[in-house]
Amino acid sequence: MYSPFNPYGSVHREHASHHWHGGSAFRTQYFNALSMGFPEMERRMIYSVRTAMAKLGDTPQARHLRGPAQNFIAQEASHSLVHARLNVQRINPNWPVLTNLWPRRKIAQHHWLSNLARTCAVEHVTTILSVYVFRQPSLFNPVTPSLRDLWLWHAAEEIEHRCLAFDVYRAAGGGYLRRIAYFFLIVFTANALVMAQTLTNLALDGQLFKPRTWRDAFVLFWGREGLVWFFGRHLPTYLRPDFSPKDRHRQACDTALRWLQDYRSRTQGP
Ligand SMILES: [Fe+2]
Ligand SMILES: [Fe+2]
Repeated sequence: MYSPFNPYGSVHREHASHHWHGGSAFRTQYFNALSMGFPEMERRMIYSVRTAMAKLGDTPQARHLRGPAQNFIAQEASHSLVHARLNVQRINPNWPVLTNLWPRRKIAQHHWLSNLARTCAVEHVTTILSVYVFRQPSLFNPVTPSLRDLWLWHAAEEIEHRCLAFDVYRAAGGGYLRRIAYFFLIVFTANALVMAQTLTNLALDGQLFKPRTWRDAFVLFWGREGLVWFFGRHLPTYLRPDFSPKDRHRQACDTALRWLQDYRSRTQGP
């Protein structure tokens, strides 16, 4: 795990542009909405994996998963910190963060396998989004280099650890029905939350009723290479009983991992 985006560092001047995604209010507030949700969501995923690993005890399977699980936790913890820092820099502190409306203590009341099934579903969704980012290299072209690196770094690490939650779920004996039930729940709630957060941001930004906002939304979601088509093709694979995150998106995963290797070598120094 390595992150060059020091969460305690000073505000980067490159981040000072208001509509940082190429001047597009919609794309800016959509990615802001994702970033606003990440810190809390990732803390919950860490909790679910940590709890599951403790439940697995000291079995050979658990020993095999311990290293990758620690890597997963370290990566998600750094994503959470970096996005929390970015949110402080980029987003009005008075804007509501909808992800935080669901109290964290409620998660502790759920069965640990259900929390893990939720994490597996979130990881499937984030992997598809991350693969999309690497298959559409122009998506972050209108963004300053440091912000582009931040989003690609997060996407690449999501791809790198995409199998961990699923492997822990399988090792813990998690079943198909629970996995699928939480998949539907996550697809519905995550979409609703991100869209509600995006619309709230746009309204508070005074951009909700501008024609360009909706033109950009249409292109991002329904354009020729839009997110809707991509998710429509890849989300349902999770429903297969023999689904495995390892076997999917080979080419994009290789590209992402190569990018990550290069990125780490150029940011970590000699
Ligand atoms: Fe993450
Ligand atoms: Fe992740």
